[in-house]
Amino acid sequence: DRLPIIAIDGPAGAGKSTVARQVANKLGLVYLDTGSMYRAVTWLVLQNDIPLDDECAIAELASSCEIKLTPSQNLQSPVQVWINGSDVTQEIRTIEVTSKVSAIAAQGAVRKALVKQQQSWGKRGGLVAEGRDIGTHVFPDAEVKIFLTASVSERARRRQQDFKKQNQPEVSLEQLERDIAERDWKDSTRKVSPLQKAADAMEIQTDGLSISEVTDKIVSYCQQLF
Ligand code: C5P
Repeated sequence: DRLPIIAIDGPAGAGKSTVARQVANKLGLVYLDTGSMYRAVTWLVLQNDIPLDDECAIAELASSCEIKLTPSQNLQSPVQVWINGSDVTQEIRTIEVTSKVSAIAAQGAVRKALVKQQQSWGKRGGLVAEGRDIGTHVFPDAEVKIFLTASVSERARRRQQDFKKQNQPEVSLEQLERDIAERDWKDSTRKVSPLQKAADAMEIQTDGLSISEVTDKIVSYCQQLF
């Protein structure tokens, strides 16, 4: 028997990370940010000057790399991410990595390697796992499945605030909307495990809802179930 798994999927900027972290904290479960793993592999690919379309070299890299995620010290800061011994916590959030990650995440061999790792971490349950394919592929038997969405303009606005908080160079809302729409399109139309709402997922549209309102909704939904 394993502890429950809560799967939270949805497009970029829907608030998944913050909400997933808070839900994990409230329910005493471990938070798993799967996007950070695709970002870390992307960082490694760029670091090694491997062309994005060299699927063989990227497959080799993804299946041999060692990723370590360590829980953050407080609810505000993101998880610490290590790949092959380098701390890439900051590096994986740059615009460069963000603009390339969808191309890497679309590669079957990359997904296979990372999903295998995620499933082994989830063997005993007790996770709030966040990503694009958690409810559909990684943990199709998750006890709770949530699909978080928000309009493109709302998500762009949130991203702009995130960048400000992280002291990153300012990006216009128009640019962010374009980037988000492009990433949505790439993530939802790829052949392998596209972003999709699981048939049994509860959808929450978060426009106009605060982080704590969304968190409370999910927590009370979970508490009804277990
Ligand atoms: O969630 P985050 O924005 O950090 O994810 C970065 C990218 O990683 C996504 O745009 C998507 O291409 C990919 N990803 C994925 N499957 C997941 C998590 C993230 O394909 N489970």
